[in-house]
Amino acid sequence: MQCDGVPLAELATRFGTPLYVYSAAAIAGRYREVDDAFHGYPHTLHYALKANSTLGIARLLRGLGAAADANSGGEIDIALRAGFTPPEIVFTGVGKTGTELERAIQLGLRSINAESEGEIHRIDAIASSLGTRARVAVRVNPDIDAQSHPHISTGLKNNKFGVAIADARDMCLRTRERRGVQIVGLHSHVGSQITQLEPLRRAARALVDLASELREAGVAIEHLDIGGGLGVSYEGQQVPTAAEYAASVLPIVRPSGLDLILEPGRFLVAEAGVLISRVVDIKPQAGGKLFVIVDAGMTELMRPMLYGAYHRIEPLQASDAPEVLCDVVGPICETTDTLGKDRRLRRPEVGDLMVIFDAGAYGSVMASNYNRRLMPAEVLIRDGAATLIKRRQTIDDLVALES
Ligand code: LLP
Repeated sequence: MQCDGVPLAELATRFGTPLYVYSAAAIAGRYREVDDAFHGYPHTLHYALKANSTLGIARLLRGLGAAADANSGGEIDIALRAGFTPPEIVFTGVGKTGTELERAIQLGLRSINAESEGEIHRIDAIASSLGTRARVAVRVNPDIDAQSHPHISTGLKNNKFGVAIADARDMCLRTRERRGVQIVGLHSHVGSQITQLEPLRRAARALVDLASELREAGVAIEHLDIGGGLGVSYEGQQVPTAAEYAASVLPIVRPSGLDLILEPGRFLVAEAGVLISRVVDIKPQAGGKLFVIVDAGMTELMRPMLYGAYHRIEPLQASDAPEVLCDVVGPICETTDTLGKDRRLRRPEVGDLMVIFDAGAYGSVMASNYNRRLMPAEVLIRDGAATLIKRRQTIDDLVALES
């Protein structure tokens, strides 16, 4: 099994396991696919750094022409270090602190996506005290069911995100009185791993309608930010293509003539990454199934335990051993530390390598040091060459913060 011509087994030997491996070509392909789909309409892809913000990945996307979507002061710093300029960064986040807001205002980001009237009030106070005007987009909660996993749905009225659509108009009109705030856009993000276009279309429609009401009332909106959320095929299911996505939202957005911001994360990087792990033990369980215990677990890839997410798992080496039913589990002291349940695999051996697919998004960024495990190394394959973009954490790195 190879990544752009580089054998994965060789990478596992050279860099150790667990190991994240990403394909620059796959990320570039995905970026172009989305960018091309919106060709002909003024748009910017603000890559959602939360999906994977390893500097090497952020820089790669910047090189491709992406702008950035940051969700914390930390992600703003990462964006700057990766070379994004402040006008290329939008800042979302449901609980921005005063320190984060002050920094964002001083930097002069493209937009701070405000989540409440209280936040607008705080932005106004900080910007006024700094003698400046902050560029703000209002994150609207359109009360739309993204039909995704409940943990990653954000657009329902009982979700903590955004300003209720019914209140947004009046709130924006009141904001005109504030000297420290300029409303430049409207924003919505109704969820992640969305595989139906209808919720995304309805969210775009809600933004366009609100924008036209506001423009009639004299609020000069510059852009609509329709968020991220486009899903990928973890289980081989049909999912919309970027072209289908564009074809369904562009006819709604086009008449507004407003600049369009997209915040794709998963769609750009999920399928470009794998996690390689080594089998450390095998033991039988009741009913003839096997536990295949590997050296990666919820500390490296939390998605299966957190959302019951499915990731394809395949042995790296071909084998003609008989197929057996397996639970592929990690080494962590948690029963839910399972990477794949009920998988039919050719009977693996201790020492074999396993490849966990579609791990490029929300994998390494969600890793933890639970059980004092060390963060895995990450490698980027570009033009047939492997670069270590994140070295494996050491125990000294881990205790460096402690006295
Ligand atoms: N914009 C905003 C405001 C967001 O909250 C998110 C994701 C995105 C953009 C990017 O969404 P994407 O295109 O990647 O779907 N950890 C979860 C996903 C959480 C997504 C949170 N927000 C998972 O592993 O499935």
